[in-house]
Amino acid sequence: MVTQKPRPPICDYEGSDYRTRFWEGKGRDYEDRVERIALRSLLPDQGQRLLEIGAGYGRLTNEYSRYQQVVLLDYSFSQLQHAQSQLGLTPRFTYVAADAYRLPFQPGIFDGVTLIRVIHHMANVPLALAQIRRVMASGGIFILEYANKRNLKAIIRHALRRQSWSPFTLEPVEFVELNFDFHPEYMRRELISARFTLLAQRPVSFFRLKLLKNILPVWLLTAADSALQSTGLLYAPSVFVRARADGAPSPRATGDISTLFACPECGAPLEQQGDTLVCTRDGLRYAIRDGIYDFKAPLSEP
Ligand SMILES: C[S@@+](CC[C@H](N)C(=O)[O-])C[C@H]1O[C@@H](n2cnc3c(N)ncnc32)[C@H](O)[C@@H]1O
Repeated sequence: MVTQKPRPPICDYEGSDYRTRFWEGKGRDYEDRVERIALRSLLPDQGQRLLEIGAGYGRLTNEYSRYQQVVLLDYSFSQLQHAQSQLGLTPRFTYVAADAYRLPFQPGIFDGVTLIRVIHHMANVPLALAQIRRVMASGGIFILEYANKRNLKAIIRHALRRQSWSPFTLEPVEFVELNFDFHPEYMRRELISARFTLLAQRPVSFFRLKLLKNILPVWLLTAADSALQSTGLLYAPSVFVRARADGAPSPRATGDISTLFACPECGAPLEQQGDTLVCTRDGLRYAIRDGIYDFKAPLSEP
């Protein structure tokens, strides 16, 4: 029998024009550049298998050249189709449509995981982190970006009584439905509870203000932000964390990715039959469509 796991709400990007609506030509070169600087500084020199959760259309995927194999996971099938059209259908990249709260993988198979601009959409942080820890090998590196409620703009607005919530209290604030800001101490505690050790934290995007971006060149803002990132002053709107999965180092996972999937409902191994993966315990079937493993929902009975 299949036990239903908790299903928190998902911020659904299916069919979204995220790339053209938010990034391309939208005056966010500064944000993109400083995020890449933070990411590069935190990524290990080399790795075997990286899972990028909430990869979207693959904006940051070209930063992962230090890994031999990259699995792009997103709940949105259409975002993954876009990523695939940019990155190609090669053995180096695997595309997986699935819910981060129910990762369709065997335990301990990734030595790297990234979660960037995604956890701010998550109402159940402990569950998301527990899932990530489950699929990571001990000693593996997790890079997390989160939206920081204790940022300078929020502190000033709070002091001027133009914002009802306090940037100093630990609980997450949901400023728009399924959009959360987190306190650095809240995130630190959640990471520790999920069996991670924090290795480094970088405040990012200090100058994310329209006025500043209008009057100062991107290179200057980027250079100033880059210098501030290494101060560890966690008062920027975005924070990048490098954490290590606790525990005795586990042997590195080997084998083709298709043998590493597990049923998102019950965790049992899956067997490939043509263009479907079949759960060896309960018979649930998942499609492989256009080169994308689709775990969003099992196929209905033929
Ligand atoms: C703001 S976009 C960020 C995309 C990419 N990481 C970037 O920085 O460009 C958030 C992405 O997270 C995905 N997402 C949100 N909730 C998810 C969940 N529960 N499981 C998997 N993906 C999720 C969305 O589909 C979307 O593509």
